[in-house]
Amino acid sequence: MRELIAGNWKMNMTRKEIDSFFEEFLRMVPYLPNEREVAIIPPFVYIPYVSEKLKGTTINYGAQNLFYEEKGAFTGEVSAEMLKDLGCTYVIIGHSERRKYFCETDETVNRKIKAALGKGLTPIVCVGETLEERESGKTFEIIEGQIRKGLDGVELSEPERLVIAYEPVWAIGTGKTATPQQAEEVHAFIRKLLKEKFGEISKDIRILYGGSVKPENAAGLMEMENINGALVGGASLDPVSFYRIIRYDSGG
Ligand code: PGA
Repeated sequence: MRELIAGNWKMNMTRKEIDSFFEEFLRMVPYLPNEREVAIIPPFVYIPYVSEKLKGTTINYGAQNLFYEEKGAFTGEVSAEMLKDLGCTYVIIGHSERRKYFCETDETVNRKIKAALGKGLTPIVCVGETLEERESGKTFEIIEGQIRKGLDGVELSEPERLVIAYEPVWAIGTGKTATPQQAEEVHAFIRKLLKEKFGEISKDIRILYGGSVKPENAAGLMEMENINGALVGGASLDPVSFYRIIRYDSGG
């Protein structure tokens, strides 16, 4: 399966900063390994700007959210069709920051996944437990609920059309990464849930790890059987560290 390394820029970057990112990053692009897929996920407003920069490369791009309604009086929102219109391949859905600050629930996640798939976008669906949940032994219960409710009624014809990202909330932006074993335990559990739901094709659904992925820890994580890529936040803002994560197996 082709691994995916996606850079989630969150609410960062200006055009000037994007210019300097690509000035450096595009120089390294010819050295990116073909067998690995790369995507950049900027804030909505910069999607066209980033897509221009990526012309002539094989790097994909996407958005950090969408709204599930087709169109109409939903001030401030962006639809799946609009993202498709801009050439997006991916859309992140249910990131823990959206769950925490913007009232995202498993129900809205579910509707957004369906909206994305309906317009031919590939959702990157984020799940993960908080520190408190982990410490009280609820990790698997939380993940199971998020996966089952999030994917309720979702149909999938090809495994490439869905990506799951396991992002333990306590590891996001904290510098604390899950150990490869801790992550693999949850990834294997997610794989089992996907198998129950989608059957055989589930073995080819990519499950990314996210949460303080850095050039130094990427190789150890990617080595695990059920870790099929990374969703990178902070480290994707720096072209050199993002590049080094993409080339995690070549010593940078
Ligand atoms: P981080 O963020 O790499 O900065 O921890 C990951 C994410 O939230 O997608």
